[in-house]
Amino acid sequence: MSENRMSEDQPRLAEHLISRRKLFAKLGAASLGLAATGTLGLTYRFLSPNVLYEASPIVNAGKPDSYPLDSVTIDVNSAIYLIHVQEGFFSLNAICTHLGCMTVWKPDLDVITCPCHGSQFSREGQKLDGPAPKPLPWLKTWMNDDGEIMVDRSTVIKPFEFLRI
Ligand code: FES
Repeated sequence: MSENRMSEDQPRLAEHLISRRKLFAKLGAASLGLAATGTLGLTYRFLSPNVLYEASPIVNAGKPDSYPLDSVTIDVNSAIYLIHVQEGFFSLNAICTHLGCMTVWKPDLDVITCPCHGSQFSREGQKLDGPAPKPLPWLKTWMNDDGEIMVDRSTVIKPFEFLRI
């Protein structure tokens, strides 16, 4: 009786072994696929350039007639002041030289102030008060061929070099 039962169980055992073999084959293929995906990802990262893309330091400030005489205009996106005085145009870096806060123009006081620790600057960038160690830097300013004012935020110039138009 038990011999008879063993012969009945043998096909089921063989069927079970085949399905286990198929399972391990599928697991192996999945592992290879995962490893290949990881390798491709690492290869892509290795081959792609490892650089930081920064915005251009050159700012197009537009036409001079956008800036009336005796005006101080801040562009918060590029952190520059464009200032129009009798002698011409100039631009200042609007970042405070103390700890890097964005300064603010106060027309009623005729000063540029820093909201962080109270430094004050004249409209020419000279330090008047507070902990800032240096004046606000003057930035290279010129006119392009289309008659627009251009500012290079990465180039500091000597103070009182006006763009005369
Ligand atoms: S960051 Fe401007 S005074 Fe400190």
